[in-house]
Amino acid sequence: MCGITGIITKDDHSIKEDLLKTLKRLEYRGYDSVGFATNDGFFKKSTLPISDFINSVDSDLRSNISISHTRWATHGGVNENNAHPHFDKTQKVFCAHNGIIENFNDLKEELEDEGYSFKTETDSEIITNFFHKGMVKEGKSFEIIAKEFIKKVKGTFAILLIIGDGRLYALKRDSPLALGITEKGFILASDIYSFSNKTDKAIFFGDDEFAIIDKDKYAFFDKDGKNIDKEITSFEWSVEEEKLDEYPHYMIKEIKEQPITSRRLIESLKRDQANRLKEFENLIKDSKRVVFVASGTSYHASLVGVHLLNKQGIESHAVIASEFENFYLVDDKTLILAVSQSGETMDVVTVIKKARKNGAKIASIVNVPYSTIQRHSDTSIEILAGQEVCVASTKAFTNQLIALFSIARSFGYDNNLENIPDRIKETLDINEEIIKELAQKLYEKNDMFILGKGATYPIAREIALKLKEIPYVHAEGMMAGELKHGTIALIEDGTPVFCLVPGKNLEMLSSAKEVESRGAKTIIIGNKEGIEPDILLPESDEKEFSIYSSLIGHLLSYYIGVLRGVNIDKPRNLAKSVTVH
Ligand code: F6R
Repeated sequence: MCGITGIITKDDHSIKEDLLKTLKRLEYRGYDSVGFATNDGFFKKSTLPISDFINSVDSDLRSNISISHTRWATHGGVNENNAHPHFDKTQKVFCAHNGIIENFNDLKEELEDEGYSFKTETDSEIITNFFHKGMVKEGKSFEIIAKEFIKKVKGTFAILLIIGDGRLYALKRDSPLALGITEKGFILASDIYSFSNKTDKAIFFGDDEFAIIDKDKYAFFDKDGKNIDKEITSFEWSVEEEKLDEYPHYMIKEIKEQPITSRRLIESLKRDQANRLKEFENLIKDSKRVVFVASGTSYHASLVGVHLLNKQGIESHAVIASEFENFYLVDDKTLILAVSQSGETMDVVTVIKKARKNGAKIASIVNVPYSTIQRHSDTSIEILAGQEVCVASTKAFTNQLIALFSIARSFGYDNNLENIPDRIKETLDINEEIIKELAQKLYEKNDMFILGKGATYPIAREIALKLKEIPYVHAEGMMAGELKHGTIALIEDGTPVFCLVPGKNLEMLSSAKEVESRGAKTIIIGNKEGIEPDILLPESDEKEFSIYSSLIGHLLSYYIGVLRGVNIDKPRNLAKSVTVH
């Protein structure tokens, strides 16, 4: 995972204001450690939170070339030694790397035979020694060594390199990298959002491409070292940088924004994005089957999508991206529908690239415009949830569901979506205090179960995921009917079991009774006063119920998390965007 950024300017730039504030915008890619290096060999690394690190950097520190890195650890523990940038033992070559060098052990042995030593546990450290050997020790050009690197290295990389010669070097395979063109020079970063306050012109690196960037010009090369012309993309970035305002955490702010963010999407799908909706409809009609591919929360949205489309007679499946090639075959009759908040999840990117080779068409539902997944799609709906800062996805999930409802409407799903924003507000207004009280009763429980059926089965899983990632509660979300095939053995006196009961769903009610009679403490989330739910949601059909019941799960995870005193917006071990396999 990790975020990288580098700047090269005619005059010196500020490390604190220019380099590190750009890096801060990449914090969603990992926050285990942070560091930077300048062209004259000055560097600083730390495991402090990135804001504290920025505060610790001298405001007068300036350079005309600098690189920086924010880490999500893959190889090697979270400590200052393993933090990037890495450097060779003469401290001449510095590198910031996003990705994984899979054959690093072989390359390390080769370099050790040449007398190079290693002091970190990372895969990335081989990069500095590799380029030191080729460029410094053997005096070869970057083009020659970059070609060799691309040939020899297995794995993924977006790399920024400085060797103290007044240039910035960059290479990319699979991990994203873009070059921003500014008035003062160039800025390289893992995404264009990070430099969208400095320029609206960018070049996206293709796979196995590399570049040499001087303060006033740049040159791109393909894997054979051939000079290539690159298209400059002019982009519009309308998403504002998020601020906490009066809220204690982004998570609760983002939960509460949903009446506005859902309305924004509903309006856009009627007007600005109506043509994209039509393109989805045509692509679905032209295909034999729709295969959703996604991870985590976006996979749960995809499961709702499968339910919606199957009910309209469209063959659909959802496959978790990381296991796609083990469980699914794709042909030219398949429409891949990628669902991703970030648009950068590596497992999803890998699937769509391979599916494209097999002739499949690609449609996507993303939150982040210009993201890799969107750029690789035949058509793409933007869910317009605004930036999600909290690592856990909430408002994006709701808008993914709304986008899917809209697609299903093109095939006959009969529902007026206009009521959703007000019903979201009603759900939050009526239930927030109730959920706070419930959190007080439950926050010491370590195991919870959530049962759903049909459109609410994915929500049971989504609520369980939120309970795991925010308050670190072991929670299991499952199909109610599957419970008695084993899991019911775990029910003990007082085990909390949430039952999602839209309308008067009798099967769900009997599942509730079955666990109750074994001592479970059931909490019924329903929308009909007749069944006396513990948590009452607005009147709606079973599919729309999925939105309101997920809000309850998100609120509950938040308030249990607050009582457990965890880091709500940045849970341990996670990152917002998972850009490694
Ligand atoms: C959970 C969460 C993750 C993401 C998953 C996919 O709250 O945020 O499970 O949903 O990592 O990310 P995207 O949607 O960016 O592809």
